[in-house]
Amino acid sequence: MSATVRVPLIAGNWKMHLDHLQAIAHVQKLSWSLKDAKHDYAEVEVAVFPPFTDLRSVQTLLAADKLAVRLGAQDLSPHAPGALTGDIAAEFLAKLEVRYVIVGHSERRNGHGEDDGTVAAKARAAVASGLVPVICVGETAAEREEHGGAAIALAQLEAAVASLPADAEYVIAYEPVWAIGSGAAATPDDAQTVARALRECVESLRGEADSLAVRVLYGGSVTSQNIAGFLRQPDVDGALVGGASLDPDEFSRIVQFRKHVTAG
Ligand code: 13P
Repeated sequence: MSATVRVPLIAGNWKMHLDHLQAIAHVQKLSWSLKDAKHDYAEVEVAVFPPFTDLRSVQTLLAADKLAVRLGAQDLSPHAPGALTGDIAAEFLAKLEVRYVIVGHSERRNGHGEDDGTVAAKARAAVASGLVPVICVGETAAEREEHGGAAIALAQLEAAVASLPADAEYVIAYEPVWAIGSGAAATPDDAQTVARALRECVESLRGEADSLAVRVLYGGSVTSQNIAGFLRQPDVDGALVGGASLDPDEFSRIVQFRKHVTAG
């Protein structure tokens, strides 16, 4: 990784919502809203992570209308193309101009039995095809009780980045499991504490340049009401937004956090 100025990234993880027709309408509304607001995509990067079946439609729209919204996928196979029913290879995503891919989301770790080894293999596969993995880490409420706020996230991060090539680009998303979809977001201070610890972990594993360049997002019940508090933190470089990304107007307000980052 190279740049030391970290451009904030606001990413919308749609999860299993919005079919391809809804996706087109959604991205149109989002881009109109951001155009009205004169949003500068070079100042704050915007990415959407639709379901696989929407990717081609969204890619076509972004290209036709020359929209600067980035495309992300929610998962990928750790394997090369082959006899793997139902899986999606990294190179297929790269062909669709997908830039980012989520790996290690708790809904895959917990719902699909993905362990640290699988997450690391997926991150490697993404990087090998020129994609940027968004590596999700975070503890459950019970783990927080037992180990505190950062220990689980740090262990998950180490497992995921240790085997990446030296020049790999990646993004980290700290998503405490108890904050996802619960309406009970972490406090900005807690998010900062863990984001700082994750950055220090990157420094010890991969050196100072990586630690200064890597973007650490916060995820878990982010809304337009609380985004400013997170982005005011020195080590929080954006957000991975679930539910609130499904409303284009609300997501647009989140993207425009700078308009309210100094308020309140
Ligand atoms: P919510 O914003 O709905 O809590 O979801 C967060 C998340 O899991 C994003 O990946």
